[in-house]
Amino acid sequence: MAQLLFRKMTKADLPAVTKIENDCQSHPWTLLQFLDGFNAGHHGWVACQDNAGREEVMGFAIVATVLDESMLLDFCVSPKFQQMGFGKRLMTFILERARAENIVQFVLEVRASNRPAIALYESFGFKKISARKDYYPAKIGREDGLVYSLSSF
Ligand SMILES: CC(C)(COP(=O)(O)OP(=O)(O)OC[C@H]1O[C@@H](n2cnc3c(N)ncnc32)[C@H](O)[C@@H]1OP(=O)(O)O)[C@@H](O)C(=O)NCCC(=O)NCCS
Repeated sequence: MAQLLFRKMTKADLPAVTKIENDCQSHPWTLLQFLDGFNAGHHGWVACQDNAGREEVMGFAIVATVLDESMLLDFCVSPKFQQMGFGKRLMTFILERARAENIVQFVLEVRASNRPAIALYESFGFKKISARKDYYPAKIGREDGLVYSLSSF
C-alpha cells in the first residue's frame, strides 16, 4: 500500500517538479528558475507517494522566509493526483512547519481566475489583502494577482 510522505525538495527532484509545473501552470517556472530558488535559499517541499521504496513526486511547494514572515512562491499538485485531498494535506504540512518555526504571517499571490487555488487557500483561513492589477501574463493580455495573507495559525 502506497504511503504519503513529505520531505525537503532536493536538486534530484527538479526533473519531476519541473514536469508537474509544466503540466499545471500556464506560465511555468523553468528548471533554471527552480535552481536559482535553491541558490537564493528558498525552501522546497515535496509530497511523495512511497510505494515499497519507489517514490513518486505528487506535488510540491516553494516557500521563501524572511525573519518571521513566509511567502508561498509556488504550489502544485500533479493533475493526475488533483481533487483527491493532496493539496489540502500539503498545505497542512506547510502551515505546521511555519507554526513550528514561529512564523507570524504567511502571504501568497494567486491569479484572480484560479478558483481551485483560491478555494483551497480560503478554506485554510487566508484572507485577501490586496490586488495587483495586470500582474500576471495571461493567454490573452494580462490578469490581476490577488494577495492573500494568513496571520493566525
Ligand atoms: C490548487 C491545487 C494545488 C489544489 O490541489 P488539489 O490536490 O487538487 O486540492 P484538494 O483535492 O486537496 O482540494 C482542497 C480544496 O481545494 C479546492 N479545490 C480543489 N480543486 C478544486 C476545483 N477544481 N474547483 C474548486 N475548488 C477546488 C476545494 O476547496 C477543495 O476542498 P474540498 O474538496 O473540501 O471542496 C491544484 O489544483 C493545482 O496544483 N493547480 C495548478 C497549480 C496552481 O494553480 N497552483 C496554485 C498557484 S497560486
